[in-house]
Amino acid sequence: MSYSGFEVSSTVGSTSRRIFSKKSNLPVIVLSACAVMAACCFFSQGRLLSTMASVRRGATGISGMRAPSFRNHHPNPVRGLTSCQANGLPIDLKGKKAFVAGVADDQGFAWAISKCLVEAGADVSLGIWVPALGIFKKSMQMGKFDESRKLSDGSLMDFEKLYPLDAVFDTPEDFPEEIATNKRYAGESDWTISEVANLVEKDIGKIDILVHSLANGPEVRNPLLETSRKGYLAAQSASAYSLVSMVQKFGPIMNEGGSVLSLTYDASNKVVPGYGGGMSSAKASLESDTRTLAYEAGRKHKIRVNTVFAGPFGSRPARAIGFIERVINYSYKNAPIEKELSAMEVGQTAGFLLSPLAFAITGQVVYVDNGLSPMGLSFDSPTLKAEEEQTG
Ligand SMILES: NC(=O)c1ccc[n+]([C@@H]2O[C@H](COP(=O)([O-])OP(=O)(O)OC[C@H]3O[C@@H](n4cnc5c(N)ncnc54)[C@H](O)[C@@H]3O)[C@@H](O)[C@H]2O)c1
Repeated sequence: MSYSGFEVSSTVGSTSRRIFSKKSNLPVIVLSACAVMAACCFFSQGRLLSTMASVRRGATGISGMRAPSFRNHHPNPVRGLTSCQANGLPIDLKGKKAFVAGVADDQGFAWAISKCLVEAGADVSLGIWVPALGIFKKSMQMGKFDESRKLSDGSLMDFEKLYPLDAVFDTPEDFPEEIATNKRYAGESDWTISEVANLVEKDIGKIDILVHSLANGPEVRNPLLETSRKGYLAAQSASAYSLVSMVQKFGPIMNEGGSVLSLTYDASNKVVPGYGGGMSSAKASLESDTRTLAYEAGRKHKIRVNTVFAGPFGSRPARAIGFIERVINYSYKNAPIEKELSAMEVGQTAGFLLSPLAFAITGQVVYVDNGLSPMGLSFDSPTLKAEEEQTG
């Protein structure tokens, strides 16, 4: 089972790239500074407190209600936020060009980040894993994403260009025969990282924003003690080295002041049983590399490199791993902010970090996790509960 959990058996269409008609009226945007700020405005209206209170009532059964089912168990005070528009400090990305790698559907973080970038005025091109490209294009054409494409001005989000990409290969010389002849890659070409960077430069010129929102660990279900060398290195290659390679190949085609962002997870520095196959090690590498890349690419290309540490979120591949609902539940019960994380909250923070507003922030791991990571005790621990009962 691959980490992405995205199985596409159909042959990918013969067109290697497709331009979706670009709307002339790209949204003129006033985007609130970031998720934190948007949340703060929201919270300041007192709605958080009432929401939290009602969540608590539901969860504990006060007022005679049964605890709601999982789906309704984690109300998000900003769930209604399908766009990134809000009043306040503007994030203005008009005229900026972004390349976002890791969109496979309208569910994951990369989609939410893209949407926030488009809302802020950026032109966004996507790098889509080759085996996922055909189904993504088909879904777009069939209007399956139309609801999630809606922007705050009512228009639909469009992308500048779509590029097939496989981030475990740097140059055409790298990929083995089995990939060259794999039907999931048939009809596509120029999808190694260096080729995509060359095409992007040729097609749209220098870019300002690079997003790495991808990961893959073929043995993610295996504990480290049962992970093979091949599986471990595959996780490192797809989930960590891919960032290094992307900064190497895209750095030279980025404008000064540009910004790179990736996504990391708690298992990088804590033990999260269930997140196996070397994925935890890959996230640790990603975070370490973020610091070194920030230094090297900062000096060489004058660009910034950060990573967003996202809390557990039920994207399609995360659900495929199998344990995500328990981890979301754990976060809900133990994080300071009792709600489910939304992809858009990560998207908004990304919008801020990728904008000139964050010009002095680089080499950082930025936490967007409802505050779970600093917690040292689990409120829902049976040990604590037993002690509470004893002390009355
Ligand atoms: N879901 C969570 O709970 C969570 C939490 C923290 C961090 N993250 C990270 O966020 C990022 C995005 O994950 P997501 O949960 O939004 O799921 P997602 O499926 O939307 O993103 C994973 C993407 O990786 C792509 N991919 C896999 N192998 C690839 C390859 N070789 N080349 C190019 N693309 C490839 C997949 O096609 C998919 O689009 C990942 O780095 C993930 O580790 C996720």
